[in-house]
Amino acid sequence: MYETRLLSPNFGAEVLDFRLTQRPSSESIDSIKKIWAEYKVLLFRSQSVSEADLVRFSQHFGSLEIHVREEYLSPQHPEILYVSNIERNGRRIGILSDNEVGWHYDQIYLPKPAVGSLLMTDTLPSDGGNTEFSDMCAAFDALPQNIKNKLDGCLANQSYEAFNQAYSVPTNKKQKSQSPDIQHPIIRRHPITDRKALYLCPGMTTQIVGWDSTESSEMLDFLFEWTTRPEFIYSHEWQLGDMLLWDNACTMHRRDPFDPLQERLMKRTTILPPEHLAAPY
Ligand SMILES: [Fe+2]
Repeated sequence: MYETRLLSPNFGAEVLDFRLTQRPSSESIDSIKKIWAEYKVLLFRSQSVSEADLVRFSQHFGSLEIHVREEYLSPQHPEILYVSNIERNGRRIGILSDNEVGWHYDQIYLPKPAVGSLLMTDTLPSDGGNTEFSDMCAAFDALPQNIKNKLDGCLANQSYEAFNQAYSVPTNKKQKSQSPDIQHPIIRRHPITDRKALYLCPGMTTQIVGWDSTESSEMLDFLFEWTTRPEFIYSHEWQLGDMLLWDNACTMHRRDPFDPLQERLMKRTTILPPEHLAAPY
């Protein structure tokens, strides 16, 4: 139904002629779901939407997570997480500030991990702060067969705590108890396309369960290097009005740093899977 334009040779597409302020019909939502599964990352350009619109649109794709970092949620719409370096009244209004943010899958540490995220621009610096995505289906497909065999059936430990230590600020006691480490299969099947993807990321994956720690580190280092090779990457340069919807079951992402003297505010919703599409895959 919608025309698309490829964002990279392998994945990512811009959806043309879509305006979020128009209440989408069920046919149009079905069409977006279809191209979302196909292209993994969808760009909607020149959108002008309220927070209520953003929440309403996101809810078409699943139920929305209320993030454990309650100090960074929108005061009016707790389904929206602010990602920002802006300070108001002596406190940061958003998470992740202005530094580099390493490769990660959003909410991989949940028992039923997120299947999507939607990120809307609000305030942008003049440059920097690009978000890069890695196609983890393509990265899996291209792996040597002996590595696929070795990883088959393995679990890995996913840690939000490790991510916070590297790129964010510590959680409080209550938040820590709400986001304990968890183990998930290293190879997961996509709930819609059934394609296999590598389900690990440098920011949160700490150990292959049951492997000797040296052997685990060597394999993870190899996989982290492998999955971030240029042929698997799309780098998004943000424009005001951009809204990105990405697939959290088969892409991971990172963010470039930007000038800390400039303000940046992005608004994110996190899409949880319906029961029949949730883990264990
Ligand atoms: Fe993220």
